[in-house]
Amino acid sequence: EKGGFEYFMLKEIHEQSKTISDCMRGRMNAEEGWIHLGGLEEFSNKLLDAQRFIIAGCGTSWHAGLIGEYLFEDLARIPVEVEYASELRYRNPIISEKDVVIALSQSGETADTLAALELAKSKGAMIYGIVNSVGSSIARLTDAGSYIHAGPEIGVASTKAFTGQVTLLSMMALSLARKRGTISQTYFLQLLHELSYIPAKVERVLKNENKIKFIASEIKDSANALYLGRGYNFPVALEGALKLKEISYIHAEGYPAAEMKHGPIALIDEHMPVIVIATNRSAYDKIVSNIQEVKARNGYVIAIVTEGDETISQMADSVIEIPDTEEPLTPLLSVIPLQLLSYHIALMRGCNVDQPRNLAKSVTVE
Ligand code: M6R
Repeated sequence: EKGGFEYFMLKEIHEQSKTISDCMRGRMNAEEGWIHLGGLEEFSNKLLDAQRFIIAGCGTSWHAGLIGEYLFEDLARIPVEVEYASELRYRNPIISEKDVVIALSQSGETADTLAALELAKSKGAMIYGIVNSVGSSIARLTDAGSYIHAGPEIGVASTKAFTGQVTLLSMMALSLARKRGTISQTYFLQLLHELSYIPAKVERVLKNENKIKFIASEIKDSANALYLGRGYNFPVALEGALKLKEISYIHAEGYPAAEMKHGPIALIDEHMPVIVIATNRSAYDKIVSNIQEVKARNGYVIAIVTEGDETISQMADSVIEIPDTEEPLTPLLSVIPLQLLSYHIALMRGCNVDQPRNLAKSVTVE
């Protein structure tokens, strides 16, 4: 059932090329230039008229939601707020029938997410679900939605569900952007083509596993780790840190790279591995200077770079290359080395990768 892999998590990491394809299947065609998400088409007026989207989720699903915020605002120009479901449900939020609440959940059974949706529903908002488990409680509560079709995810650490959620959010943002006329036909087609190349590029990222294993062996005894990213890759930094802490029990934090100078830089010394996602074209020089700041304090820099990058490759202690893609789609590739890195570190530390201590796959209690 683990398909020859030692743990479900590793199997699920390796499945991602297929699960991303499954998520796109029948819903888009780059050659013909269309995207069609059943749930969205049916309620497209409601979505297009929304005064804002509120994205709710927990843990990894909340991280995917943050990428959704960047996608919807950047491409479709729809105002978005992303909320931890547990906060949304208890903080007397302002929600009305003009809002659309998008729920993200792998299991569809997370108690806090479910309760937040019940609250939003009672205030008249439309609820759109992006869920993996078919027929789950959250899927049943929503007015409309799209399944991510990742198949059962057994490892407690979410991997293929995250890339499925981000794929779905990318398709949704592109579809809404096209309908709203907020991106050109040329850019729309370019992104659509790039999206269709993602599964093959994921395969290429997975080929770096031996190198990632080596890097894992270099940092496996660290007490802490820092993950930095900017723009679309900031939520990926948060996700990388969560993956590491939950399965290897190493304390890790994710930060927007530019926030380093507002505090976390004080932590950096030769014992601190700093994992920098450095693929953004738009802020390349800024990332280079962030890396210089870390190196000046003897931090150990592991950089995720675009294939062929020379500048950062010379500065960093280790680099992991990923194929080039359009910036809004980079999280689908940049998260994969971080999943593998946590997996191998946890394995080397003798941890139970699939069932980390104190954690459950579905958090059905608050
Ligand atoms: O099933 P859900 O997506 O609603 O679960 C949300 C979180 O509990 C979940 O993502 C959790 O953070 C994972 N263990 C992260 O790997």
